[in-house]
Amino acid sequence: MAFLWSERRIRWYLDASGRSDFHRRLAQCLLPELKPTDRVCDLGCGLGRLDLELAPHVAEITCVDTDAAVLDRLAADAADRGIGNLKLLRCGAEQLRGEYDAVVMAFFGTPPALMLSALRHARRTLLRVMSLAGESASGGGTGRRRETAADVARALEAAGWPYALRRCTLSFGQPLASVEDAAAFLRASLPEATGQQVRQLLREQLVPAGDRDFPWYLPKEKALGIFVVDAAGGPRR
Ligand SMILES: C[S@@+](CC[C@H](N)C(=O)[O-])C[C@H]1O[C@@H](n2cnc3c(N)ncnc32)[C@H](O)[C@@H]1O
Repeated sequence: MAFLWSERRIRWYLDASGRSDFHRRLAQCLLPELKPTDRVCDLGCGLGRLDLELAPHVAEITCVDTDAAVLDRLAADAADRGIGNLKLLRCGAEQLRGEYDAVVMAFFGTPPALMLSALRHARRTLLRVMSLAGESASGGGTGRRRETAADVARALEAAGWPYALRRCTLSFGQPLASVEDAAAFLRASLPEATGQQVRQLLREQLVPAGDRDFPWYLPKEKALGIFVVDAAGGPRR
């Protein structure tokens, strides 16, 4: 099952991003790999919060996604912030044309064939950000086994692409308007969870936040892997 945005999911994501420094910090982790003259492409950009943070530091970012609603929201927010160097492209990553100094894939890039074909569009580097949590998890009830960092490393090595794997842990908790909102968030995030498991997670993890708009909070520490793939010389084989 592909990742699908809904109005509620967009709101949750904007609330979480807007009330944390997650995307600013993630951008800081990527910036050492980027240059001010870079033309960057972010594949599967979603709401583009990372791109809004990276934009002042590079020449241009092409933000690619299949979902019109998230691109519309990104266009509006970029305009509000006076950011003029984002180019929005609604298409599948598979349809991408052209070359970029750097290609970014954040929480997107499965299966490995998609990442390997994205490498054809990267002149210098491909930066793949992925969660290291639940390395043996089963894919959120989607029937697919979730791709792990070890899978990505194996695919890159088999195809002969040199890479470094950096790790970082960033907070990305979820502010919530009510306990019902929290339950709906967990059900949407963990579609395989039973009602009983959702209730148990609420009991164990939901904390009062002391905020008028968002009285509840689900803390989350995200352990991330950042694959920095050296695309400059092509695969070494
Ligand atoms: C898990 S979200 C990650 C979004 C964003 N990179 C972030 O870190 O918030 C995956 C994104 O990929 C988009 N997507 C799914 N299939 C795609 C495809 N074939 N080509 C481009 N984007 C795609 C979805 O619409 C969604 O916005």
